[in-house]
Amino acid sequence: MNIDGKAWRTIWLEQGGRSVGVIDQTQLPHRFSTRSLATLDQAAEAISTMVVRGAPLIGVTGAYGLMLALQADPGDASLAAAFEQLNATRPTAINLRWALERVRDRVAPLPPAERAAAAALEAAAIADADVAMCEAIGDHGLALFQQLAAVRPPERQQEPFRVLTHCNAGWLATVDWGTALAPIYKAHRAGLAIHVWVDETRPRNQGANLTAFELGREGVPHTVIVDNAGGHLMQHGLVDAVIVGTDRTTRTGDVCNKIGTYLKALAAFDNGVPFYVALPASTIDWTLADGVAEIPIEARSSEEVTHIQGLSSVGSSAGELVTVQLPPQGSEGFNPAFDVTPARLVSALITERGVAPASEAGLLGLYGQAPECSEPSLAAEVDH
Ligand code: MRU
Repeated sequence: MNIDGKAWRTIWLEQGGRSVGVIDQTQLPHRFSTRSLATLDQAAEAISTMVVRGAPLIGVTGAYGLMLALQADPGDASLAAAFEQLNATRPTAINLRWALERVRDRVAPLPPAERAAAAALEAAAIADADVAMCEAIGDHGLALFQQLAAVRPPERQQEPFRVLTHCNAGWLATVDWGTALAPIYKAHRAGLAIHVWVDETRPRNQGANLTAFELGREGVPHTVIVDNAGGHLMQHGLVDAVIVGTDRTTRTGDVCNKIGTYLKALAAFDNGVPFYVALPASTIDWTLADGVAEIPIEARSSEEVTHIQGLSSVGSSAGELVTVQLPPQGSEGFNPAFDVTPARLVSALITERGVAPASEAGLLGLYGQAPECSEPSLAAEVDH
C-alpha cells in the first residue's frame, strides 16, 4: 500500500538476504522509520515489543526469524531453540505457530547446509501467499459491501457506506492489503463512497495510531472515535457494518481479536448491525472448538494501561514522542490483550475463499476439510 505515493510492504529482505527490513510500528503515526533485523534475537524482540504486530505479519516475521537463526547455526538444536524462542514471543495469534511450523517442517529434513536458503524461500512464499489471500479477502468483502450499500433505504443512498473497525487489521498488520481493511481499500478504489469509524483501541491505540495512518495515506475518509462511542453510533443508525480482523478463529467460528472486539459485537447484535470478521486460512485454528475456554489470551504489561505515548504539543518537548502517566501513582493496571467473540455474534466470516457463516459447517463449506495450510500452492489457488 502507499505512503506518500510509494508502494510498501511491511517486511522485506535486505543485504542479499542477510537481514530483514521492517517498518517500526512503535513510532507510527508520528515517525516513519524502518529497522533491520539481522539476528534471531532481534526478530524475537521486534515481535514481542510490537515493532511488528498483527497476526499475519507476526507469522511472516517469525518465519524470517528462523531463517536468520539458521544462517547463524543451521544445526538441529539451533532450529529447535529458535522455534521455541520465536513461538513464545506472542501466544495468541495462531499465525505465528503456523508459519514457524511450516518453515521448520520444510527445512528439518534437509542437510544443515541447505536449510537457511530453504527457509528464506519458504518465508518468502508465506509472505506472497499472505498478500494474495488478503487481496482476495478484499475482493470478497467489496462484493459484500456493495450488496449492503445497495439495499440501504433510498434516503440513505446518497450517503457514504459507514463502516466501524477496531484495532488495526490493515496492511501494517499483514504483508500488504490487510484483512478487515482490504475490503475498505477495494471499495474506495472501486468508487464506493465509504467512511470509516476508527476505534482508537486502547491501550496501545492501534486504531488511532495505525489504522488512521493507513487510511489517511490512502485517502479514505475516516473519523477516530473513543472505544466507548461505538454502541452509541450504532443506536443512532450511524454504522452500516462492523468489520474486524482476528488473531485466532476456532473451527467453530469463535473469533479472538483485540480486546474490546467482543463489546463491539454485542452492541452490533443489539442494534441489528452486521458484524463481519475478515481472515486468511492461516488464522484458523482447526484444533480448537471453544474459543473462550481454549484460546490463550496474552497478558501484556500493565504499563500499557497506566501510561500512554503521543506527540507532545507543549513546552520544550513540543514535537517529541513522549510517554505520560494516566492514573495516580500506585494504581495497578491489568492488560489482557485480546478477547473472544462467540460465533453466534458474528454475521459472517470473510476469507480468501469467500464469505461463510461463522460455524464449523461454514468453514468446512469453504475449505472442504481442515486445509494443509502449509501447502505453498495455497497462494496459487486464490483466484481473483
Ligand atoms: O496486538 P496486535 O496489534 O498484534 O493485535 C492485532 C489485532 O488484534 C488484529 O486485529 C489481528 O491481528 C488481525 S490483523 C490482520
